[in-house]
Amino acid sequence: MSQEQKIILSGVKPTGRPHIGNYFGAMKQFVDLQTEYRSFIMIADLHALTSVTEAEILRRETLDVAIDYLAIGLDPERVTIFRQSDVPAHTELAWIFNCLTTMPYLARAHAFKDAEAKNREVNVGVFTYPILMAADILLYDPDLVPVGQDQKQHVEIARDTAEKFNRLFGEVFKLPEALILDQVKTLIGLDGQKMSKSYRNTIPLFADERELKQLIMSIKTDSKSETEAKNPEECNVFALHKLFSGAIIPEVKRRYVEGAIGYRESKEILFEQMNHYLEPLRAKRVEIASRPDEVRAILAQGAGDARAVAEAKLAKIREAVGL
Ligand code: ADP
Ligand code: TRP
Repeated sequence: MSQEQKIILSGVKPTGRPHIGNYFGAMKQFVDLQTEYRSFIMIADLHALTSVTEAEILRRETLDVAIDYLAIGLDPERVTIFRQSDVPAHTELAWIFNCLTTMPYLARAHAFKDAEAKNREVNVGVFTYPILMAADILLYDPDLVPVGQDQKQHVEIARDTAEKFNRLFGEVFKLPEALILDQVKTLIGLDGQKMSKSYRNTIPLFADERELKQLIMSIKTDSKSETEAKNPEECNVFALHKLFSGAIIPEVKRRYVEGAIGYRESKEILFEQMNHYLEPLRAKRVEIASRPDEVRAILAQGAGDARAVAEAKLAKIREAVGL
């Protein structure tokens, strides 16, 4: 009997330049797992509609995410890279799930509560966002959903929804699990809060050299002088050394502890290391971006492949609920 290949599904929203939190928290896992897992990686443009109201911007950023995916090394020969809105089954299943989910259950979701607390005009899409995400996930029967910590609750909601459906209509869905890597589950931004596009504290993954340097030099630190002993575990700069500085990490660490390095020098070293790491990704992105038609062709192929899988699953779901 042949061992079936395990499946992953994940995606990011086309809402601005990806940052190193997105990369280490989620996107890098897509690349690292692509040889071992059957992979479905989406661009969540329907989710982006909860906050983007300009067609040109949405179109451009959607193509940008596709370019980002290819630049970090997703191989379209192996991975189904697709645009969520190209697969109508997602919204149809979301409707079916809407009808199984209670209002109080969704009202407890963090993202919704945060939006309400900020007193924003919360649209119904924000409220039912986790249900569309449950549909994204459950259509493809993934074993794992690689994401950062802030998406954990959403994957749990997908799991709960699958359980509820199975209880009511029979075993249709596999229960997915979030894959969250402990060391990178929440990267800290320039100001010491969680790195997030909405906090304007990010280091964009594809920042050019000048921007990268300027951002690194602006990372918030305490005011210890060069010769004071420093706790590397409490330093936002050192947190990034751990990701980028490879072989020299122990030496940097020793100099922190011994009071033999100032923050300025630590940042300068970090810039060299990060720049070295990110330079090839940046170069690849420029090259891919110069061939947008190829990227569109990859999305068209991905749309067809994703649709075939999703529609086969949807047929079983419709049958189970009596549509
Ligand atoms: P943002 O919060 O910057 O808008 P997204 O919501 O587009 O980012 O997130 C895309 C992916 O990146 C998700 O899997 C999310 O969990 C992950 N992610 C976002 N910010 C971080 C972070 N600071 N550290 C680790 N992972 C993150
Ligand atoms: N909500 C996710 C984010 O903000 C994006 C997303 C949409 C997603 N659908 C998904 C992630 C399905 C994983 C699986 O990052």
